[in-house]
Amino acid sequence: MESYKKLLDSNKTWAQNKIRIAPDFFERTACEQTPEFLWIGCSDSRVPAEEIVGSAPGEIFVHRNVANLVVHTDFNLLSVVQYGVEVLKIKHIIVCGHYGCGGVQAAMSPKYLGLINKWLRHIQDVYHDHTAELDAIADDNKRFRRLVELNVVEQASHIAQTSFVQHAWQRENRPLVHGWVYDVSSGLIKDLLTISPDKFDLGIYRYEFSDL
Ligand code: CO
Repeated sequence: MESYKKLLDSNKTWAQNKIRIAPDFFERTACEQTPEFLWIGCSDSRVPAEEIVGSAPGEIFVHRNVANLVVHTDFNLLSVVQYGVEVLKIKHIIVCGHYGCGGVQAAMSPKYLGLINKWLRHIQDVYHDHTAELDAIADDNKRFRRLVELNVVEQASHIAQTSFVQHAWQRENRPLVHGWVYDVSSGLIKDLLTISPDKFDLGIYRYEFSDL
């Protein structure tokens, strides 16, 4: 059997199992989605967002890209954040990176890879901001792991700096922004930081809204 046909067969089995457990499952999920969480993760096939946190369809609004970046000119990501925050009224935004991230690893190498280097440049900017700390780590793997963590911290900050999140913070005191790292070798998530509206210095990125 061709490999892609296995996916279609698996889908039929999955849908049948769902109906067996809860006959009205698809009738319920077809109506609307009311997820509490927005997940921004890496495209890596080993980090399936819903599966590693044991969630069901309807629970997590998901955006994935190479190395879970939050770039302030990325209309794709920003549209997801706006819709999530303003329409779905998301309560928690989770930026989840992972150890062993190929995007972060490639950003640490001078090898030219073409277009993707433009994307990875954002990770190199994170390295640049933390050069003293990272260059002081002699062990290559430990330095790699630390850059994965610093990248998550930086991207979570970028989420907090978006106008959509700032606007929601001033009106409704949500969402909380979380930075996590998933360990592909243990299956466990490390909780790195939580950014709440009252404890984050927006600095130069702070907006004053005329409608508030
Ligand atoms: Co990755």
